[in-house]
Amino acid sequence: MTSPGETRILVVDEDPQVGRQLGELFRAQGHVVDCVLDGRGAIAALEQKDYSLAFVDFRIRDTNGLHLVRDMKERWPDLDVVMVTGHATIQGAVEAIRIGASDYVTKPFEVEEILLATEKVIEKRRLVDEIAWLRGQLAERYSFANMVSRNPRMHEIFSQIEALAQNDATVLLTGESGTGKELCARAIHFQGRRRGGKFVAINCAAFPDTLLESELFGYQRGAFTGAIADRVGKIELASGGTLFLDEIESISLGMQLKLLRVLEEHEIERLGGNKRIRVNMRVIAATNVSLDELVARGAMREDFYYRVNVVPIDLPPLRDRIEDVPLLVNEFLRNSEMAKDRGVDRVSNRALQQLMSWDWPGNVRELGNVLERSILRSQGGVIREVDLPGRDRRGPEPARARGTDYEVPLKEFLRRAERDYLAHVLRKHRGGIGASAKHALVDAATLHRKMKAHGIRREEFRARGRARDPEVEVGGVGRLPAVPLPTRH
Ligand SMILES: Nc1ncnc2c1ncn2[C@@H]1O[C@H](COP(=O)(O)OP(=O)(O)O)[C@@H](O)[C@H]1O
Ligand SMILES: [Mg+2]
Repeated sequence: MTSPGETRILVVDEDPQVGRQLGELFRAQGHVVDCVLDGRGAIAALEQKDYSLAFVDFRIRDTNGLHLVRDMKERWPDLDVVMVTGHATIQGAVEAIRIGASDYVTKPFEVEEILLATEKVIEKRRLVDEIAWLRGQLAERYSFANMVSRNPRMHEIFSQIEALAQNDATVLLTGESGTGKELCARAIHFQGRRRGGKFVAINCAAFPDTLLESELFGYQRGAFTGAIADRVGKIELASGGTLFLDEIESISLGMQLKLLRVLEEHEIERLGGNKRIRVNMRVIAATNVSLDELVARGAMREDFYYRVNVVPIDLPPLRDRIEDVPLLVNEFLRNSEMAKDRGVDRVSNRALQQLMSWDWPGNVRELGNVLERSILRSQGGVIREVDLPGRDRRGPEPARARGTDYEVPLKEFLRRAERDYLAHVLRKHRGGIGASAKHALVDAATLHRKMKAHGIRREEFRARGRARDPEVEVGGVGRLPAVPLPTRH
Protein backbone atom coordinates (compact mmCIF):
# COMPACT_ATOMS: atom_id res chain seq x y z
CA MET A 1 0.00 0.00 0.00
CA THR A 2 1.19 3.48 -0.78
CA SER A 3 0.89 6.01 1.99
CA PRO A 4 -2.18 8.24 1.88
CA GLY A 5 -1.84 11.06 -0.60
CA GLU A 6 0.80 9.15 -2.53
CA THR A 7 -0.12 7.73 -5.91
CA ARG A 8 1.77 4.84 -7.45
CA ILE A 9 1.74 5.04 -11.23
CA LEU A 10 2.73 2.41 -13.78
CA VAL A 11 3.85 3.52 -17.24
CA VAL A 12 3.66 0.92 -20.01
CA ASP A 13 5.43 2.08 -23.18
CA GLU A 14 7.81 0.28 -25.48
CA ASP A 15 9.81 3.48 -25.88
CA PRO A 16 12.04 3.82 -22.79
CA GLN A 17 12.43 7.52 -23.62
CA VAL A 18 8.70 8.06 -23.05
CA GLY A 19 8.88 6.12 -19.80
CA ARG A 20 11.71 8.33 -18.61
CA GLN A 21 9.87 11.53 -19.54
CA LEU A 22 6.63 10.54 -17.89
CA GLY A 23 8.52 9.20 -14.89
CA GLU A 24 10.23 12.53 -14.36
CA LEU A 25 7.01 14.42 -14.78
CA PHE A 26 5.08 12.29 -12.26
CA ARG A 27 7.90 12.19 -9.73
CA ALA A 28 8.04 15.97 -9.86
CA GLN A 29 4.36 15.85 -8.80
CA GLY A 30 5.25 13.72 -5.82
CA HIS A 31 4.03 10.41 -7.26
CA VAL A 32 5.82 7.08 -7.24
CA VAL A 33 6.45 5.76 -10.76
CA ASP A 34 7.55 2.48 -12.33
CA CYS A 35 8.06 2.02 -16.06
CA VAL A 36 7.80 -1.20 -18.03
CA LEU A 37 8.19 -1.87 -21.73
CA ASP A 38 5.52 -4.46 -22.46
CA GLY A 39 2.41 -6.29 -21.34
CA ARG A 40 4.25 -9.03 -19.54
CA GLY A 41 6.24 -6.48 -17.57
CA ALA A 42 3.02 -4.65 -16.74
CA ILE A 43 1.26 -7.71 -15.36
CA ALA A 44 4.33 -8.69 -13.36
CA ALA A 45 4.51 -5.21 -11.83
CA LEU A 46 0.82 -5.21 -10.97
CA GLU A 47 1.14 -8.58 -9.30
CA GLN A 48 3.88 -7.24 -7.10
CA LYS A 49 2.69 -3.80 -6.14
CA ASP A 50 -0.45 -1.88 -5.58
CA TYR A 51 -0.88 0.77 -8.30
CA SER A 52 -3.61 3.40 -8.50
CA LEU A 53 -3.05 4.39 -12.06
CA ALA A 54 -1.52 2.99 -15.25
CA PHE A 55 -0.63 4.82 -18.46
CA VAL A 56 -0.78 2.26 -21.24
CA ASP A 57 0.48 2.92 -24.73
CA PHE A 58 -1.81 1.65 -27.43
CA ARG A 59 1.07 0.04 -29.32
CA ILE A 60 3.14 -2.31 -27.26
CA ARG A 61 5.36 -5.14 -28.30
CA ASP A 62 3.89 -8.35 -27.01
CA THR A 63 0.17 -7.65 -27.07
CA ASN A 64 -2.09 -4.83 -28.08
CA GLY A 65 -2.91 -2.04 -25.70
CA LEU A 66 -6.60 -2.83 -25.72
CA HIS A 67 -6.08 -6.43 -24.69
CA LEU A 68 -3.79 -5.30 -21.95
CA VAL A 69 -6.32 -2.76 -20.65
CA ARG A 70 -8.99 -5.43 -20.61
CA ASP A 71 -6.77 -7.90 -18.75
CA MET A 72 -5.76 -5.25 -16.27
CA LYS A 73 -9.31 -4.15 -15.58
CA GLU A 74 -10.42 -7.73 -15.22
CA ARG A 75 -7.81 -8.61 -12.62
CA TRP A 76 -7.51 -5.21 -10.97
CA PRO A 77 -10.91 -3.55 -11.33
CA ASP A 78 -9.90 -0.72 -9.00
CA LEU A 79 -6.93 0.25 -11.13
CA ASP A 80 -7.47 3.35 -13.23
CA VAL A 81 -6.05 3.11 -16.71
CA VAL A 82 -5.29 5.98 -19.05
CA MET A 83 -4.76 4.96 -22.64
CA VAL A 84 -2.00 6.70 -24.57
CA THR A 85 -2.61 6.78 -28.29
CA GLY A 86 -1.51 8.34 -31.57
CA HIS A 87 -4.08 10.31 -33.55
CA ALA A 88 -4.49 7.46 -35.97
CA THR A 89 -5.86 5.19 -33.26
CA ILE A 90 -8.50 7.43 -31.78
CA GLN A 91 -11.06 4.71 -32.46
CA GLY A 92 -8.96 2.50 -30.23
CA ALA A 93 -9.15 5.09 -27.50
CA VAL A 94 -12.91 5.10 -27.71
CA GLU A 95 -12.86 1.34 -27.48
CA ALA A 96 -10.50 1.53 -24.50
CA ILE A 97 -12.91 3.78 -22.64
CA ARG A 98 -15.69 1.35 -23.44
CA ILE A 99 -13.83 -1.55 -21.87
CA GLY A 100 -13.01 0.39 -18.76
CA ALA A 101 -10.16 2.84 -19.28
CA SER A 102 -10.72 6.04 -17.33
CA ASP A 103 -9.37 8.40 -19.93
CA TYR A 104 -7.07 8.68 -22.90
CA VAL A 105 -4.39 11.09 -24.06
CA THR A 106 -3.07 11.47 -27.57
CA LYS A 107 0.56 11.46 -28.63
CA PRO A 108 2.54 13.61 -28.92
CA PHE A 109 1.20 14.81 -25.59
CA GLU A 110 1.37 18.09 -23.81
CA VAL A 111 2.57 18.06 -20.23
CA GLU A 112 -0.64 19.82 -19.19
CA GLU A 113 -2.73 17.15 -20.80
CA ILE A 114 -0.96 14.38 -18.93
CA LEU A 115 -1.17 16.22 -15.65
CA LEU A 116 -4.84 16.96 -16.13
CA ALA A 117 -5.63 13.32 -16.90
CA THR A 118 -3.69 12.26 -13.81
CA GLU A 119 -5.37 14.81 -11.59
CA LYS A 120 -8.79 13.78 -12.81
CA VAL A 121 -8.14 10.18 -11.90
CA ILE A 122 -6.69 11.06 -8.53
CA GLU A 123 -9.60 13.35 -7.77
CA LYS A 124 -12.04 10.63 -8.75
CA ARG A 125 -10.24 8.11 -6.55
CA ARG A 126 -10.33 10.54 -3.67
CA LEU A 127 -14.09 10.78 -4.08
CA VAL A 128 -14.46 7.03 -4.29
CA ASP A 129 -12.38 6.58 -1.14
CA GLU A 130 -14.45 9.20 0.56
CA ILE A 131 -17.63 7.42 -0.43
CA ALA A 132 -16.28 4.14 0.87
CA TRP A 133 -15.50 5.87 4.12
CA LEU A 134 -18.91 7.50 4.25
CA ARG A 135 -20.56 4.15 3.63
CA GLY A 136 -18.68 2.86 6.63
CA GLN A 137 -20.00 5.74 8.66
CA LEU A 138 -23.56 4.80 7.83
CA ALA A 139 -23.40 2.16 10.49
CA GLU A 140 -23.13 4.90 13.08
CA ARG A 141 -26.21 6.83 13.94
CA TYR A 142 -26.41 10.49 13.18
CA SER A 143 -30.08 10.98 13.64
CA PHE A 144 -32.34 13.07 15.73
CA ALA A 145 -36.13 13.03 15.53
CA ASN A 146 -36.40 11.78 11.92
CA MET A 147 -33.52 13.98 10.84
CA VAL A 148 -30.18 12.61 9.81
CA SER A 149 -26.95 14.45 9.30
CA ARG A 150 -23.27 14.07 9.92
CA ASN A 151 -22.56 17.74 9.47
CA PRO A 152 -21.25 19.56 12.56
CA ARG A 153 -23.41 22.62 11.93
CA MET A 154 -26.49 20.38 11.71
CA HIS A 155 -25.49 18.68 14.93
CA GLU A 156 -25.42 22.05 16.64
CA ILE A 157 -28.89 22.64 15.29
CA PHE A 158 -30.05 19.28 16.64
CA SER A 159 -28.86 20.21 20.13
CA GLN A 160 -30.42 23.62 19.82
CA ILE A 161 -33.73 22.01 18.90
CA GLU A 162 -33.48 19.62 21.79
CA ALA A 163 -33.05 22.53 24.16
CA LEU A 164 -35.79 24.59 22.50
CA ALA A 165 -38.25 21.75 22.86
CA GLN A 166 -38.13 22.36 26.61
CA ASN A 167 -39.31 25.97 26.42
CA ASP A 168 -41.83 28.06 24.55
CA ALA A 169 -39.56 30.52 22.77
CA THR A 170 -40.63 31.66 19.34
CA VAL A 171 -38.33 30.17 16.71
CA LEU A 172 -37.55 31.52 13.27
CA LEU A 173 -36.30 28.87 10.85
CA THR A 174 -34.53 30.18 7.78
CA GLY A 175 -33.02 28.27 4.89
CA GLU A 176 -33.63 27.41 1.27
CA SER A 177 -36.63 25.42 0.25
CA GLY A 178 -36.27 21.74 1.10
CA THR A 179 -33.57 22.15 3.74
CA GLY A 180 -35.74 20.68 6.50
CA LYS A 181 -37.37 23.71 8.12
CA GLU A 182 -40.70 22.01 8.62
CA LEU A 183 -39.01 18.88 9.87
CA CYS A 184 -37.21 20.97 12.50
CA ALA A 185 -40.44 22.68 13.49
CA ARG A 186 -42.07 19.28 13.99
CA ALA A 187 -39.09 18.08 15.98
CA ILE A 188 -39.33 21.05 18.33
CA HIS A 189 -43.01 20.33 18.84
CA PHE A 190 -42.92 16.57 19.15
CA GLN A 191 -39.81 16.42 21.33
CA GLY A 192 -41.18 18.97 23.70
CA ARG A 193 -43.77 19.33 26.38
CA ARG A 194 -46.34 20.59 23.90
CA ARG A 195 -46.43 17.28 22.12
CA GLY A 196 -49.81 16.57 23.67
CA GLY A 197 -51.23 19.53 21.77
CA LYS A 198 -51.58 19.86 18.01
CA PHE A 199 -48.91 20.82 15.52
CA VAL A 200 -50.77 23.07 13.12
CA ALA A 201 -48.97 24.16 9.97
CA ILE A 202 -50.10 26.90 7.66
CA ASN A 203 -48.38 27.99 4.49
CA CYS A 204 -48.92 31.72 4.44
CA ALA A 205 -47.99 31.96 0.77
CA ALA A 206 -50.79 29.64 -0.22
CA PHE A 207 -53.59 32.06 0.64
CA PRO A 208 -54.53 35.52 -0.49
CA ASP A 209 -54.84 37.96 2.38
CA THR A 210 -58.52 37.63 3.21
CA LEU A 211 -58.45 33.86 3.02
CA LEU A 212 -55.36 33.74 5.21
CA GLU A 213 -57.20 35.77 7.79
CA SER A 214 -60.14 33.40 7.95
CA GLU A 215 -57.80 30.41 7.95
CA LEU A 216 -55.92 31.79 10.90
CA PHE A 217 -58.72 33.34 12.91
CA GLY A 218 -61.71 31.26 11.90
CA TYR A 219 -65.16 32.81 11.54
CA GLN A 220 -68.68 32.87 12.85
CA ARG A 221 -71.44 31.70 10.65
CA GLY A 222 -72.67 34.59 8.49
CA ALA A 223 -69.44 36.59 8.86
CA PHE A 224 -69.29 36.87 5.08
CA THR A 225 -70.99 35.39 2.05
CA GLY A 226 -70.25 31.69 2.06
CA ALA A 227 -69.62 31.44 5.79
CA ILE A 228 -72.44 28.99 6.25
CA ALA A 229 -71.19 27.51 9.50
CA ASP A 230 -68.80 28.44 12.30
CA ARG A 231 -65.23 27.58 11.63
CA VAL A 232 -62.36 27.22 14.03
CA GLY A 233 -59.18 28.91 12.81
CA LYS A 234 -55.68 27.49 12.89
CA ILE A 235 -54.64 29.69 15.79
CA GLU A 236 -57.39 28.28 17.95
CA LEU A 237 -56.59 24.77 16.78
CA ALA A 238 -52.97 25.24 17.74
CA SER A 239 -53.84 26.43 21.21
CA GLY A 240 -52.03 24.16 23.65
CA GLY A 241 -49.73 23.09 20.83
CA THR A 242 -47.62 24.71 18.14
CA LEU A 243 -48.53 26.98 15.27
CA PHE A 244 -46.12 26.68 12.37
CA LEU A 245 -46.26 29.75 10.13
CA ASP A 246 -44.50 28.74 6.93
CA GLU A 247 -43.33 31.28 4.33
CA ILE A 248 -44.05 34.23 6.60
CA GLU A 249 -42.44 36.60 4.14
CA SER A 250 -45.70 36.57 2.21
CA ILE A 251 -47.85 37.85 5.06
CA SER A 252 -49.17 41.33 4.26
CA LEU A 253 -48.38 44.30 6.45
CA GLY A 254 -51.98 44.46 7.62
CA MET A 255 -52.04 40.80 8.58
CA GLN A 256 -48.70 41.15 10.34
CA LEU A 257 -50.29 43.71 12.61
CA LYS A 258 -53.20 41.42 13.37
CA LEU A 259 -50.89 38.54 14.12
CA LEU A 260 -48.67 40.72 16.25
CA ARG A 261 -51.67 41.55 18.44
CA VAL A 262 -52.45 37.88 18.88
CA LEU A 263 -48.86 37.14 19.81
CA GLU A 264 -48.87 39.89 22.38
CA GLU A 265 -52.34 39.51 23.83
CA HIS A 266 -52.80 35.74 23.49
CA GLU A 267 -56.36 36.34 22.45
CA ILE A 268 -58.26 36.17 19.20
CA GLU A 269 -61.64 36.98 17.84
CA ARG A 270 -63.14 34.92 15.07
CA LEU A 271 -64.19 36.90 12.00
CA GLY A 272 -67.70 38.15 12.53
CA GLY A 273 -67.54 37.08 16.15
CA ASN A 274 -67.61 39.22 19.20
CA LYS A 275 -66.16 36.85 21.78
CA ARG A 276 -62.51 37.05 22.70
CA ILE A 277 -60.96 33.62 22.91
CA ARG A 278 -57.84 32.90 24.97
CA VAL A 279 -55.16 31.08 23.02
CA ASN A 280 -51.91 29.62 24.18
CA MET A 281 -49.75 28.40 21.38
CA ARG A 282 -46.10 28.30 20.64
CA VAL A 283 -45.14 29.94 17.37
CA ILE A 284 -42.53 28.66 14.97
CA ALA A 285 -42.08 30.61 11.76
CA ALA A 286 -40.17 29.75 8.61
CA THR A 287 -38.96 31.63 5.57
CA ASN A 288 -36.50 31.23 2.73
CA VAL A 289 -35.86 34.91 2.23
CA SER A 290 -33.94 37.44 4.25
CA LEU A 291 -36.39 39.16 6.57
CA ASP A 292 -33.86 41.93 7.30
CA GLU A 293 -34.18 42.86 3.70
CA LEU A 294 -37.98 42.85 3.85
CA VAL A 295 -37.85 45.12 6.87
CA ALA A 296 -35.35 47.38 5.14
CA ARG A 297 -37.65 47.95 2.21
CA GLY A 298 -40.76 48.26 4.30
CA ALA A 299 -42.40 44.96 3.38
CA MET A 300 -42.22 43.71 6.94
CA ARG A 301 -43.09 45.53 10.12
CA GLU A 302 -40.13 45.88 12.39
CA ASP A 303 -42.18 45.05 15.49
CA PHE A 304 -43.52 41.90 13.86
CA TYR A 305 -40.01 40.94 12.80
CA TYR A 306 -38.67 41.26 16.34
CA ARG A 307 -41.63 39.37 17.73
CA VAL A 308 -40.96 36.44 15.39
CA ASN A 309 -37.18 36.50 15.23
CA VAL A 310 -36.53 35.50 18.83
CA VAL A 311 -34.44 32.37 18.26
CA PRO A 312 -33.20 32.24 14.68
CA ILE A 313 -32.00 28.94 13.22
CA ASP A 314 -30.48 28.94 9.76
CA LEU A 315 -30.46 25.59 7.98
CA PRO A 316 -27.51 25.13 5.62
CA PRO A 317 -28.27 24.13 2.02
CA LEU A 318 -27.54 20.53 1.07
CA ARG A 319 -24.69 21.57 -1.24
CA ASP A 320 -22.86 22.89 1.81
CA ARG A 321 -23.17 19.55 3.59
CA ILE A 322 -22.77 17.21 0.67
CA GLU A 323 -21.43 14.56 3.06
CA ASP A 324 -25.05 14.11 4.13
CA VAL A 325 -26.07 12.75 0.74
CA PRO A 326 -25.17 9.08 1.43
CA LEU A 327 -26.88 9.26 4.79
CA LEU A 328 -30.02 10.84 3.35
CA VAL A 329 -30.09 8.36 0.48
CA ASN A 330 -29.92 5.53 2.95
CA GLU A 331 -32.62 7.05 5.09
CA PHE A 332 -34.83 7.64 2.09
CA LEU A 333 -34.47 4.08 0.79
CA ARG A 334 -35.22 2.74 4.25
CA ASN A 335 -38.41 4.75 4.54
CA SER A 336 -39.71 4.82 0.99
CA GLU A 337 -42.69 2.59 0.30
CA MET A 338 -41.83 2.62 -3.36
CA ALA A 339 -38.31 1.43 -2.63
CA LYS A 340 -39.71 -1.35 -0.48
CA ASP A 341 -42.23 -2.37 -3.12
CA ARG A 342 -39.57 -2.57 -5.77
CA GLY A 343 -36.97 -4.10 -3.49
CA VAL A 344 -34.52 -1.26 -4.03
CA ASP A 345 -32.09 -0.95 -1.16
CA ARG A 346 -28.77 0.07 -2.70
CA VAL A 347 -27.14 2.78 -4.76
CA SER A 348 -24.02 2.12 -6.81
CA ASN A 349 -20.85 4.00 -5.98
CA ARG A 350 -20.92 5.78 -9.31
CA ALA A 351 -24.50 6.89 -8.82
CA LEU A 352 -23.68 8.10 -5.32
CA GLN A 353 -20.68 9.92 -6.68
CA GLN A 354 -22.96 11.58 -9.21
CA LEU A 355 -25.48 12.56 -6.55
CA MET A 356 -22.69 14.08 -4.50
CA SER A 357 -21.55 16.23 -7.37
CA TRP A 358 -24.87 17.97 -7.92
CA ASP A 359 -25.82 21.39 -6.63
CA TRP A 360 -29.26 20.55 -5.24
CA PRO A 361 -31.09 23.86 -5.56
CA GLY A 362 -34.14 22.09 -4.11
CA ASN A 363 -32.09 20.52 -1.31
CA VAL A 364 -33.25 17.40 0.55
CA ARG A 365 -36.69 17.54 -1.01
CA GLU A 366 -35.16 17.48 -4.47
CA LEU A 367 -32.90 14.59 -3.51
CA GLY A 368 -35.99 12.64 -2.45
CA ASN A 369 -37.70 13.38 -5.76
CA VAL A 370 -34.66 12.33 -7.74
CA LEU A 371 -34.42 9.07 -5.82
CA GLU A 372 -38.08 8.39 -6.31
CA ARG A 373 -37.75 8.76 -10.07
CA SER A 374 -34.60 6.66 -10.04
CA ILE A 375 -36.27 3.87 -8.11
CA LEU A 376 -38.85 3.57 -10.87
CA ARG A 377 -36.14 3.11 -13.48
CA SER A 378 -33.85 0.90 -11.48
CA GLN A 379 -33.41 -2.81 -11.92
CA GLY A 380 -32.14 -5.54 -9.66
CA GLY A 381 -32.53 -3.64 -6.42
CA VAL A 382 -29.79 -1.13 -7.19
CA ILE A 383 -29.98 2.47 -8.34
CA ARG A 384 -27.24 2.96 -10.89
CA GLU A 385 -25.92 6.00 -12.62
CA VAL A 386 -28.08 5.32 -15.68
CA ASP A 387 -31.21 5.42 -13.51
CA LEU A 388 -30.58 8.98 -12.38
CA PRO A 389 -32.45 11.68 -14.23
CA GLY A 390 -29.98 13.29 -16.61
CA ARG A 391 -29.15 16.87 -15.97
CA ASP A 392 -26.54 19.46 -16.49
CA ARG A 393 -24.58 19.67 -13.28
CA ARG A 394 -24.51 23.40 -13.44
CA GLY A 395 -28.27 23.23 -13.55
CA PRO A 396 -28.85 26.03 -16.01
CA GLU A 397 -32.55 25.77 -15.43
CA PRO A 398 -33.06 24.96 -11.81
CA ALA A 399 -36.71 25.93 -12.08
CA ARG A 400 -37.31 23.14 -14.53
CA ALA A 401 -35.09 20.68 -12.75
CA ARG A 402 -37.16 21.17 -9.65
CA GLY A 403 -40.42 21.28 -11.53
CA THR A 404 -42.09 24.64 -12.01
CA ASP A 405 -44.92 24.90 -9.56
CA TYR A 406 -47.89 26.76 -10.97
CA GLU A 407 -50.01 26.10 -7.92
CA VAL A 408 -48.63 29.08 -6.06
CA PRO A 409 -49.69 32.72 -5.99
CA LEU A 410 -48.19 34.88 -8.74
CA LYS A 411 -46.06 36.77 -6.24
CA GLU A 412 -44.46 33.55 -5.05
CA PHE A 413 -44.04 32.34 -8.63
CA LEU A 414 -42.23 35.53 -9.57
CA ARG A 415 -40.12 35.42 -6.43
CA ARG A 416 -38.94 31.91 -7.26
CA ALA A 417 -38.28 32.85 -10.86
CA GLU A 418 -36.16 35.77 -9.72
CA ARG A 419 -34.26 33.56 -7.33
CA ASP A 420 -33.56 30.97 -10.03
CA TYR A 421 -32.48 33.69 -12.41
CA LEU A 422 -30.05 35.15 -9.89
CA ALA A 423 -28.65 31.73 -9.05
CA HIS A 424 -28.14 30.99 -12.72
CA VAL A 425 -26.39 34.26 -13.47
CA LEU A 426 -24.18 34.06 -10.39
CA ARG A 427 -23.27 30.48 -11.15
CA LYS A 428 -22.40 31.42 -14.68
CA HIS A 429 -20.09 34.20 -13.51
CA ARG A 430 -18.78 32.20 -10.57
CA GLY A 431 -20.10 34.59 -8.00
CA GLY A 432 -18.65 37.66 -9.72
CA ILE A 433 -20.87 40.57 -8.72
CA GLY A 434 -19.65 42.91 -11.45
CA ALA A 435 -20.11 40.41 -14.25
CA SER A 436 -23.45 39.20 -12.89
CA ALA A 437 -24.78 42.73 -12.53
CA LYS A 438 -23.73 43.49 -16.08
CA HIS A 439 -25.40 40.31 -17.29
CA ALA A 440 -28.63 41.23 -15.51
CA LEU A 441 -28.38 44.90 -16.52
CA VAL A 442 -28.76 46.10 -12.95
CA ASP A 443 -26.28 47.94 -10.79
CA ALA A 444 -24.19 46.08 -8.24
CA ALA A 445 -26.11 47.54 -5.30
CA THR A 446 -29.40 46.27 -6.70
CA LEU A 447 -27.89 42.86 -7.27
CA HIS A 448 -26.60 42.79 -3.69
CA ARG A 449 -29.97 43.79 -2.35
CA LYS A 450 -31.77 41.12 -4.34
CA MET A 451 -29.28 38.46 -3.35
CA LYS A 452 -29.76 39.35 0.26
CA ALA A 453 -33.51 39.26 -0.10
CA HIS A 454 -33.26 35.74 -1.45
CA GLY A 455 -30.64 34.68 1.04
CA ILE A 456 -28.16 34.03 -1.80
CA ARG A 457 -24.49 34.32 -0.92
CA ARG A 458 -21.88 34.75 -3.61
CA GLU A 459 -19.57 32.35 -1.76
CA GLU A 460 -21.91 29.55 -2.80
CA PHE A 461 -20.94 30.17 -6.38
CA ARG A 462 -17.30 30.93 -5.87
CA ALA A 463 -16.20 28.10 -3.64
CA ARG A 464 -16.95 25.21 -5.94
CA GLY A 465 -14.36 22.52 -5.37
CA ARG A 466 -12.72 20.82 -8.32
CA ALA A 467 -14.75 17.69 -7.88
CA ARG A 468 -17.91 19.62 -8.49
CA ASP A 469 -16.55 21.54 -11.41
CA PRO A 470 -18.27 20.11 -14.48
CA GLU A 471 -15.18 20.82 -16.56
CA VAL A 472 -13.36 18.19 -14.56
CA GLU A 473 -15.50 15.21 -15.34
CA VAL A 474 -15.24 12.78 -12.48
CA GLY A 475 -15.90 9.75 -14.66
CA GLY A 476 -12.92 10.70 -16.79
CA VAL A 477 -14.62 10.75 -20.17
CA GLY A 478 -15.06 14.49 -20.47
CA ARG A 479 -13.93 14.64 -24.06
CA LEU A 480 -15.87 11.65 -25.28
CA PRO A 481 -19.48 12.50 -24.54
CA ALA A 482 -20.85 9.99 -27.01
CA VAL A 483 -19.23 7.00 -25.34
CA PRO A 484 -21.36 5.21 -22.79
CA LEU A 485 -19.60 4.51 -19.53
CA PRO A 486 -18.96 0.87 -18.90
CA THR A 487 -21.22 -0.31 -16.14
CA ARG A 488 -18.94 -1.58 -13.46
CA HIS A 489 -20.63 -1.19 -10.15
N1 LIG B 1 -31.99 16.09 7.86
C1 LIG B 1 -32.96 15.40 7.23
N2 LIG B 1 -33.05 14.09 7.38
C2 LIG B 1 -34.02 13.39 6.74
N3 LIG B 1 -34.94 13.94 5.96
C3 LIG B 1 -34.90 15.26 5.76
C4 LIG B 1 -33.91 16.07 6.38
N4 LIG B 1 -34.11 17.34 6.00
C5 LIG B 1 -35.17 17.34 5.19
N5 LIG B 1 -35.67 16.10 5.04
C6 LIG B 1 -36.81 15.73 4.20
O1 LIG B 1 -36.80 16.58 3.07
C7 LIG B 1 -38.09 17.03 2.74
C8 LIG B 1 -38.15 18.53 2.81
O2 LIG B 1 -38.06 18.95 4.16
P1 LIG B 1 -38.94 20.14 4.74
O3 LIG B 1 -38.79 20.14 6.21
O4 LIG B 1 -40.32 20.11 4.20
O5 LIG B 1 -38.14 21.37 4.09
P2 LIG B 1 -38.50 22.92 4.06
O6 LIG B 1 -39.63 23.14 5.03
O7 LIG B 1 -37.25 23.61 4.45
O8 LIG B 1 -38.89 23.23 2.64
C9 LIG B 1 -39.02 16.34 3.69
O9 LIG B 1 -39.50 15.17 3.06
C10 LIG B 1 -38.14 15.99 4.86
O10 LIG B 1 -38.64 14.87 5.53
MG1 LIG C 1 -41.45 23.84 3.72
